[in-house]
This record gives sequence, structure tokens and C-alpha cells, in this order.
Amino acid sequence: MTNAPYGLLAELTHQCPLHCLYCSNPLALRPRDEELGTEDWLRVIREAAELGVLQVHFSGGEPLVRGDLEELIAEADRCELYTNLITSGLGLTENRAKALVGAGLNSAQLSVQGDTPESTDQIADSKRFDKKREAAGIIRDSGLPLNMNVVLHRLNLDRLDSIIDVCDAWGAERLELANTQYYGWGLRNREVLLPSRDQLARAEAVYRRRKQELAGRMELLWILPDYYEPYPKPCMGGWAHSSFTVAPDGTAYPCPVAAEIDGMTFPSVRTGPLERIWAESPAFQAFRGTDWMPDPCRSCSRKEIDFGGCRCQAFALTGDAARTDPVCVHSPDHHLVRDAVQRANSDDPAPEPVFRRSASPRPPGRAASGP
Ligand code: SF4
Ligand code: FES
Repeated sequence: MTNAPYGLLAELTHQCPLHCLYCSNPLALRPRDEELGTEDWLRVIREAAELGVLQVHFSGGEPLVRGDLEELIAEADRCELYTNLITSGLGLTENRAKALVGAGLNSAQLSVQGDTPESTDQIADSKRFDKKREAAGIIRDSGLPLNMNVVLHRLNLDRLDSIIDVCDAWGAERLELANTQYYGWGLRNREVLLPSRDQLARAEAVYRRRKQELAGRMELLWILPDYYEPYPKPCMGGWAHSSFTVAPDGTAYPCPVAAEIDGMTFPSVRTGPLERIWAESPAFQAFRGTDWMPDPCRSCSRKEIDFGGCRCQAFALTGDAARTDPVCVHSPDHHLVRDAVQRANSDDPAPEPVFRRSASPRPPGRAASGP
């Protein structure tokens, strides 16, 4: 029998004021005029609750771009769902924060890219460091706990001590130190972003020291850099196992990166109820459980631990989503990861970074307003 999903990632829009080098959103962003309208999102939220979902993460792009965010949060709250906002903080005002909390928002996660305006611009190509500091204050003053997130890579790992200081000074209660996962735009910039082994070891030592020092004040979490691990991460806890994503245009995916897998057809919430999508759609069934696995996973003792790793990474690196994640040392494609790691530890100069640009700026539909 299929589990009920636990979490819904509601990607309300791909519009975003930042241009991050590591963005894992698909290369083809959905434009505003293809976004789901308010009524459809309200229905999706209700159907998610009926399906057993307990948490909704409102994300994007930048979800604050949507003028109906409060309405959607209120509906989730009425359905007794836990609501979390994943935001760059840009566009957040005191009044907006009040309205979001009034609608029932339970928590917010604010992203930062660096510890100074200059280091932030180097990664996000957006002169908004001061706005992020302001947003942190607004979130705290609204009564929500301040959760923060920083994506770590070659360009900022050596500044980790100082990044943690900034998050501490801004009042973060929890800080997720997420080593870059190489999907979408991030994969395009992989040679710019992939750190050296020494750099990672130094940063991990900083993390361990600061975790102890800050215990009781700020919780630090270290998300593993999987290119340097012998085994892959149990991505999404297994394909279509406990959560799913609805993209801005209403396409439902077992994970936020699956849009990149060519040759798979994913269902849309516009044409069928979530219950049927979750339980019956061929795309959700494709890699559920362990029956689909090829060797070496099929006969591996870790197959119920990491589920063969990440389907999107397997596709991105080999062109076949059904292969063992090349991060795994047992994968016949492991050389693809090993070679990238070798280059990151060589003296070869890194290529120029390529900043991401947003989806085409068409006029907003009913549901959207500017940040
Ligand atoms: Fe995981 Fe497959 Fe590697 Fe075994 S062979 S560790 S199941 S990815
Ligand atoms: Fe899609 Fe891992 S990101 S399965």
C-alpha cells in the first residue's frame, strides 16, 4: 500500500529577485502567465490535507511575489496544516509579515548568500544584503522563530565563521548549512561551485566548533556535500514516498528537480485530483520502492537506506534516471563524480560564473503582485 505523503512543497512562482549561481530550479522557468491561479491553489491545499499532508512549504522563486499568499496560508491553516514560508526576504514589509502571521503562518526560513554585501552580490548578483538584514528583523518582530539557510560552495565556505556570526547577530534560532546540490543552474556552474577537499574539511571543523559554542542559542545543521560522500543521500526519503512538489504551472513532481528528467510525463493538478496523482500516476510509480532498481542497487544491503540515491542526479549525470546515483562508489558511472572532484582539487582555473535570470517578466495575472 502507498504511504500518505507528509509534506507538500508549493512552488508558487519561479519569479525571483535573486540570480543565484547555485539555483536548483529547472533551467526552463515557468513564466507568470502559466502560474496556477488562486482557486486552483486553494483546491490543491484542501486536497493535500485530505490526502494526509501535514506540512505545506510555500516556496518558489520568491513566494512573496504572489499577492494571494495570505489567502493560501489561511486556507492551509483552516485545513490544520503546518505552514512554512521559504523566502529570500525581499519584498517583506512589517505589514506583510503581520498579515502572513495573521493568516496562520507558523514559520519562515530566510536565505542568505554571504556575510557581507560584496560576498552576497558575488553569488546572487543582487545588491540586497541590507534588505535581508531588515527582513530578519521583521520576521523576528512578527513573533515567528527566525530560521535561516545558507547554501555553501567554493566561493563562501572559507567565510563560514563570519556567515555564522551574521546569522547569530540577526537573531537566527536555527541555521541550515546546506552544501550545494548540483541540479539545474547549479549543475551549469558546478566547476565554479564545487569546493576542494581541504576547503570542506576546514569548513566542517568550523561547523563543529560553532555548533558546540552556540548550543542552546542557535541550532546548526550541516547538510552533507554528497560529491565527497561514498554513498548517495536517501533523496526525498525515496521517490514519491513522503512528499511531493507542485510547480508554479500546476505540474506535480515527486521532487522539486524532477522537471529536468526528459522523457517522463508528469501529471498536472489542473487535470486530476491529488489523490489519484499520488497513488496512480505512472511518473509517481516509476521509482517508488525498490522493485525498479538495477544492479548494483538491487542486490545491495543499503537499498532500503538510500533507495539508490537521487533519480534527478542519476539523470543529470548519465541521461538515465533509472541508473544508480553516480555519487555511489559502487555505481558504474562513479567516475563522473570522481572526475569532477579531481578537477576541483587540481590547479585548473575555474570558469566564469553564469548568473541565473528570472522567467520572462510578463504582466502579472490575477494572483500576482510585485514584491
Ligand atoms: Fe545505495 Fe545503490 Fe550504492 Fe547500494 S549500490 S549504496 S543501494 S546507491
Ligand atoms: Fe529529484 Fe533527488 S532531487 S530525486
